[in-house]
Formats: sequence, structure tokens, C-alpha cells
Amino acid sequence: MTRYGDFQNEIYFAGLTGRVPALPMVYADLEARAAQALPPSVLSYVAGGAGDERTQRGNVEAFSRWGLVPRMFVGAKDRDLSVELFGLTLPSPLFLAPVGVIGICAQDGHGDLATAQAAARTGVPMVASTLSVDPLEQVVPEFGDTPGFFQLYTPTNRDLAASLVQRAEAAGFKGIVVTLDTWVTGWRPRDLSTANFPQLRGHCLANYFTDPVFRSLLGKAPEDDPMAAVGLWAQLFGNPLTWDDLPWLRSLTKLPLIVKGIQHPDDARRAIDGGVDGIYCSNHGGRQANGGLPALDCLASVVDASGDTPVLFDSGIRSGADVVKALALGARAVGIGRPYAWGLALGGADGAVHVLRTLLAETDLIMAVDGYPTLADLTRDSLRTVG
Ligand SMILES: Cc1cc2nc3c(=O)[nH]c(=O)nc-3n(C[C@H](O)[C@H](O)[C@H](O)COP(=O)(O)O)c2cc1C
Repeated sequence: MTRYGDFQNEIYFAGLTGRVPALPMVYADLEARAAQALPPSVLSYVAGGAGDERTQRGNVEAFSRWGLVPRMFVGAKDRDLSVELFGLTLPSPLFLAPVGVIGICAQDGHGDLATAQAAARTGVPMVASTLSVDPLEQVVPEFGDTPGFFQLYTPTNRDLAASLVQRAEAAGFKGIVVTLDTWVTGWRPRDLSTANFPQLRGHCLANYFTDPVFRSLLGKAPEDDPMAAVGLWAQLFGNPLTWDDLPWLRSLTKLPLIVKGIQHPDDARRAIDGGVDGIYCSNHGGRQANGGLPALDCLASVVDASGDTPVLFDSGIRSGADVVKALALGARAVGIGRPYAWGLALGGADGAVHVLRTLLAETDLIMAVDGYPTLADLTRDSLRTVG
């Protein structure tokens, strides 16, 4: 059992010799410092969301409507944050959500590798996006002993989809996360204002450009004609999947198949009936459709509809308190999105590790103080709505 809360002792003891943390401990400071460090085009792409970003803000605000009820005389001296997921035992319930431009968030332009290194150092699995600077085969070796998952943006060409999944399997990923809510890009005024869409500028397309099916469809090497390669990518990227596609998706892999973007209980039920192994409740951090519900408000009903099938959750997690609340509402694992992108921008793998350690320490210490020694102790009964 990792004693995540001990991170604070490390910090306080270092303070006795005059050392303070190199990276911010307060989320707002982390975000503000990363905003200074990132190029404006990357910043607007990462920080921005759909429409006037009401749903994006709502994701964060939704957590403040819940409070954890403290229990005393529990003696929660040792906490166990470990979790079983798809036959794996993970040391904590956190995972790194897929972030398609994570490669260019790091100062050296290799944020996919740095994120994988952070996963290796913390035991927090990375869900690696289809959109990456470094091809998936180069990301996996950086995971060390930590399992990783591959996130698929299902292309319109089925052979290309199958090729990406086969490559992910061969490289050693432990599950495939299919994102359902992004076959078309949502309306994003920040990016529209600067006419900026990173992939159309050729960023983060390595998984396509190294793919044998993509290369044969292009009929030449992407390096020889980058404009044509980006054009082909734009044609192939987004597949508006229907339920009729689910049997085919399921047939692509024997690995656990997880569907991301589920917010309605009926969709969860039907996906499970169609053979998926995991439901991922998320609204893409409010980047895709404005005017929706905060993802947290959809979680409990999705969990209820999912029965024994694990539900992963992301959208709006900014603190350990948020992690605890999502777990209490029934999430089996909780995805970190923008916060680790900020860490990476400030300090590469060290920065992402810093963000994960702060989240894990706060989660652990809340469980200690409030008397919830294991994740099983965190249930809906532990929460009340804030009056
Ligand atoms: C810049 C950026 C890029 C993203 N790229 C992907 C992606 O490639 N695939 C995907 O499934 N989700 C992607 N997401 C969504 C995240 O996986 C996650 O759902 C979201 O970040 C959660 O919201 P939060 O960061 O506000 O907590 C991206 C999010 C951001 C911020």
C-alpha cells in the first residue's frame, strides 16, 4: 500500500532546510503558470472548450454541490486506494485521460513519452490518445510496469481502425478506449478566433503517418507530401458510429473494450449488452458540446445502469476532494485531464508526477481525516448535497 499522504511530510521536512516545492501546490497557480509557459495556440486549444464554456465550468462547479460526511473513531491509519480494473490491480483509482495534444504540451515536444514516464513513476495508467507526436510503439516502453490503455478515434476506414487496434495490442496496451463524442469537432470559439486546429497543421499525427494502411491509402510517404497526408487524415478522422457498428468494434479486439463519452443510462445499458467491458462517463471536459449537464451529474445514473461493469469517469477533476466525490458516486476509476497537461508544460515528466502526487496525497489524507480507509467505504451514503 502506497502512503500517498506522506508527500506532505516530504514537503514540510524539506522546508526545514529552506526548500519549497518547485511547482505550484494550488491548482489555480498551476494553471496560471502553465498559461505563461505554453505557446498561445497550444494554450487556447488545451484551456478552451465548446461555446461560452459554461458546461466546462459546470463540470468543475458540480463538485462543490457535494460534501463528504466525516466519520470519527474509525482510526483510518492505513488507507488502501488500490482498485481492480479489467483483471488488473492498480495501486490507485487515478488514470491519465487521453489528451490528443499532450505531445506538444511538453517543452521538448515529446509529451506523450513524458506522460508515459510519469505513469511508470506513479503507477497511474496512461490512456494514450490516437493523436500523438510519438507513435504508440514508442510510448509503451516508457510505461515500465504500469499498464497502459489505447484510446481510439475510430477512422472512417475500417482497415485503418483495425490496424491501429492491432498495433496497440501488439505494442502491449491492456485495453482499448473508443471515444464516441468526437467524430466531429465541437464549436470552439477560442480556437476559431485564431483559426487554429493543431492537427490540420500536421501536429500529433504520428500514429497515422506510421500506419501501413494509412500509408498505402496515401500511396506515398507522408514525409514526401505532408499536405496530402494531412488532407487524407482529415477525410479519415471522424466516424459517426451507430449501434450497428458496435459488433464490428467489439470484434476488433479481445482486449477490454471501453466506450468513452457515455452520459445516458440507456446508452450504458445498450453498450454493455453489445459486449463492452467498461463504460467511461465523460463529456470530454466540456470541449465538445456546450449547454450540457456537468458530467458529474450524469455519473450516478450511469453507474446504476452499468451493474457490475466498471464505470470510469472524467471531466472537472481538479483536486483530491473531487476524486473522493466521484468515487463515492460510483466511479471505479477517475481520469485526470487538463491538470496533468499543465504539470507537463511546466516540468515535463516531473511536472506530471507532481500533479499526480498532489492529487493522490489529498485523496489519501481526506480518506484519513474523514475516516474512510478503503475505496469500498466511499459510497453514496458518505455524501450529502451542500445546502
Ligand atoms: C487538450 C485536450 C485534448 C484532448 N484530447 C482527447 C483525445 O485525444 N481523446 C479523447 O478521448 N479525449 C480527449 N480529451 C478529453 C479528455 O480525455 C478528458 O475527457 C477531459 O480532459 C476531461 O476534462 P477536464 O480536463 O476538464 O478534467 C482532450 C482534452 C483536452 C483538454
